Order: sequence, then structure tokens, then C-alpha cells
Amino acid sequence: MLKTTFDGLTLENPLMPAAGPLVGDDDKMRFLREEGCGAIISKTISTKDPHIPKPCIYGDRQFVMNSELWSEHSLSTWLHDFLPSYQKDNDRPLIISVGYTKEDMEILIPALDPFADAFEVSTHYVGTDLSVIAGTIDTIRKNTNKPVYMKISPHIPNPAGFAHMIKEHGANGVVAINSLGPTMMIDIDSRSIQYGNEQGFVWTSGPVIKHLALAVVYTIKKAEPSLTVIGVGGIASADDVIEFLLAGASAVQMLSAALIKGKQLYKKIIEDLPKRLEAHGFHSVQEVIDTTLTNDVKYKRQVPELIEEKCIKCDLCVQVCPYFAIEMKDKITFDAKMCFECGLCVTKCPTHAIVMRD
Ligand SMILES: Cc1cc2nc3c(=O)[nH]c(=O)nc-3n(C[C@H](O)[C@H](O)[C@H](O)COP(=O)(O)O)c2cc1C
Repeated sequence: MLKTTFDGLTLENPLMPAAGPLVGDDDKMRFLREEGCGAIISKTISTKDPHIPKPCIYGDRQFVMNSELWSEHSLSTWLHDFLPSYQKDNDRPLIISVGYTKEDMEILIPALDPFADAFEVSTHYVGTDLSVIAGTIDTIRKNTNKPVYMKISPHIPNPAGFAHMIKEHGANGVVAINSLGPTMMIDIDSRSIQYGNEQGFVWTSGPVIKHLALAVVYTIKKAEPSLTVIGVGGIASADDVIEFLLAGASAVQMLSAALIKGKQLYKKIIEDLPKRLEAHGFHSVQEVIDTTLTNDVKYKRQVPELIEEKCIKCDLCVQVCPYFAIEMKDKITFDAKMCFECGLCVTKCPTHAIVMRD
């Protein structure tokens, strides 16, 4: 029911971790394998030592801000310690995350190829010039036949152009998206920046970026349907997984929600998925992937209507209505002339007592 297959990889379920601290060494990767993730990824491996400011992870309710870089462990440690140890009893696809330049790829890909089922390539610190990224893919392709997924950063201005370019250069798909930034956090009391790099910037991830990530996944899949898309950004529940699959993803990754809510979230989502699929009328993950998303956006006039028996008279709709069109008399009433039919009252009503009618 939960299986997904793409580019010769079979995942028993579509959820994997995203590159980050939870896959920072073989013990952590093994932990997430035991929690049930369908595939495992590594922290991004590169050729130089990162210089990481501390503290480097801030967790809020709906977002994480980080200034972490790539793996603090050397390529040699990954090659001679973590990867041989992890692969001893590995039973599922291992995607190795690598960064960043084509010169790095000349070293990393041939060395890591014996351990990888696929590669994910971070483009986070290489700017927005697609010809530079194209050169990186050419170098990778000279060194491996394994599936290659290019991870897109949200600051890349043209995701469709990115998709066309990576397809032309022989990558198998896109991992969308990396964290959003640069962003900034200010501590008022100390009049200072407490989290960030030397420029004072952090990168934002977690539930607040979910809808941006969905749009990038959707855009890429529409632009190049033959590319595999792995969705990442803000996933925190089984329903989020289903949304990414509907948008065009074949599998998904998660990190920040597990940093905010705890590492047991992977297992919970995998356990919840069958129930949530069923609740939405799906029989399998593949059925969700094969579903074509329709666009039901309407331009015709609709008006809000009250379902009186559900209304608890909390007054919230009156307070939030941006067009001053709702009044509380004996009951909630809508002023048809003032109402802009925006629908905000429908989405804010805590008891679903307002519906839009033609
Ligand atoms: C603390 C932290 C470290 C991260 N490290 C990496 C990394 O090494 N390589 C990478 O490609 N992305 C890295 N990311 C980005 C995540 O893989 C992911 O793309 C992003 O956080 C969005 O997903 P999420 O909202 O589920 O966290 C990191 C994110 C965080 C929060």
C-alpha cells in the first residue's frame, strides 16, 4: 500500500529524512532506518571543513532557523568509517547528499559511488547561474550511472528552467526545496543578532515553508513530467505527505518538524499514512501519485451562508472580515453589498458554520 518506485529504486514507504543533523553519521542514519523511513539520506558531504557558527539551530512552533552548513565530518571519515559500517546491514535505498562545485564532484562522486544507490546534489551555495549547475551535472554524469537528484534552493528564480536544464544534462530528478533564505532573527533586548552566519543571516524551514515547497514541486512536475520529484519543506503529518504526492512528488523528505516535535515523528507519520490514505479515499501511495490534480478555482459569484445550528456566536468572523460585511445581530448576518466573497470567514470559523453557496 505504501510502496513507491522510481528510477529503479523501491521504497517501502515514501518518507525519508532530509539532509541535516539527524543523518549526520551512521548511528543516526541507522536510528531513522529503524524508525521505518523508506530510504535514508546522508548529511551533505563536501571536500572542505565547514566553519559553523554556534548556536546554529533555533526551533519555534512552526519553523526552524539554522546556520548549519554541510557535514562537520570529513570525506575520509564517511568513506572509511560511517558508510562501510552503515552498509553492513542496510536493507533500503541510500541516497548520498553531496555539495557543491564541479571540482568537488570530481573527488566526491567516484569515491562515494560504491556506497550510493543514488546521489542528491545540493546547489545551496553555488548561486543562481544555471550554466554553473549544468557543468556540475556534466561532471557527475561522467563519474556515475546512478540516479542523480538535484536539490533546488528556493532562491533559484526559475524552477521550470532549472527542471529543463537538469533534464537536458542527464539528471533524474529534483529534490524540492532546500531551506528558505537568507532570513533574519533579531533579539530586541540585546540589540543583536544571536543566530546566523557572519552576514547575520539564517535559513528558514519547517511548516511555514510548506506551501512554497508545494508550488515548486508542482511547477517542476508540470514543466518536466518525466523527471522524478522528491518533495521536501514543511512536512509534519501524513496529510502533508499526501499533499506533496498530489502536487507531483514520488517520495518526500522531512527534517524540521522532527526537530520541533521530536524524532518519533517519522514513525508516527509512517504509521498514520494508511489511515489517512483511506480517510481520503485512496488505496495506495501509487494511486495518489497517479492522481491528476484538478484546478477548481472559480471566478463566479458565491456568497457566504450561515449554518445556524453550528454557530457558537464567538464573533470571530465579525472581527476578521476585511470588508466589514458581517454583523452579529440575533445571529450572524452577511451584508451582500459589502461582502467581497473572499472566503476568509469560511476558513477562520472554528466550527465550520459558514459555507460559500453559488
Ligand atoms: C539544521 C538543518 C541542517 C540542514 N542541513 C542540510 C544539509 O546538510 N544539506 C542540505 O541539502 N540541506 C540541509 N538542510 C535543509 C533540509 O534538508 C531541508 O531541505 C529543509 O530544511 C526543508 O525541509 P524541512 O522543512 O522538512 O526541514 C538543513 C536544514 C536544517 C534545518
